[in-house]
Amino acid sequence: MAHPAIFRCRAASLGDTASIAARLADLLKPGDVIALGGTLGAGKTAFARAVIRHLAREEIDVPSPTYNLLLTYDFDDYCLYHYDLYRLESPEEALELDIDEAFDQGVSLIEWPDRLGRYLPENHLLVEITAEKDGAGARVFTFSGDERWRARLRPLMEVGDA
Ligand SMILES: Nc1ncnc2c1ncn2[C@@H]1O[C@H](COP(=O)(O)OP(=O)(O)OP(=O)(O)O)[C@@H](O)[C@H]1O
Ligand SMILES: [Mg+2]
Repeated sequence: MAHPAIFRCRAASLGDTASIAARLADLLKPGDVIALGGTLGAGKTAFARAVIRHLAREEIDVPSPTYNLLLTYDFDDYCLYHYDLYRLESPEEALELDIDEAFDQGVSLIEWPDRLGRYLPENHLLVEITAEKDGAGARVFTFSGDERWRARLRPLMEVGDA
């Protein structure tokens, strides 16, 4: 069953998206699975890129894993796994990407998480990204997860919009 929404915040620009992503990056730990929801072009890769660059502490190249399905980043405390599962033909195909080990020991950022079906861990955090209708760069982020995520996200909730 889907988890309830914990809170929403708004990014007026790509820079604001990066600020929200950096705040989330600061509280990530091994075993975290972050599902990035939203339609084509919503900003899932932009959000993941900002998380990764914040953790890398430099503007490293973060391509979209569109063709590879998975790109991996080695940080001091854990490996970060960035997935784009749009092209996944069946949930079982994901098992070939060694998701068990990644979900257990790494931090996983997953674009098109619905493609995983029953393999998406129950304790994931969903970050749903929606573009505002005016067509400019504003986005709304909705964070949904269990009670543990509600507690962990408190610092983000207190800051509010970017
Ligand atoms: N506030 C914003 N947050 C995120 N992206 C923004 C924002 N404003 C503008 N953009 C632009 O929107 C586009 C988002 O593209 P991105 O590749 O991140 O989408 P995506 O959700 O990963 O799409 P796909 O489903 O194809 O993987 C980028 O060109 C980015 O520069
Ligand atoms: Mg993408």
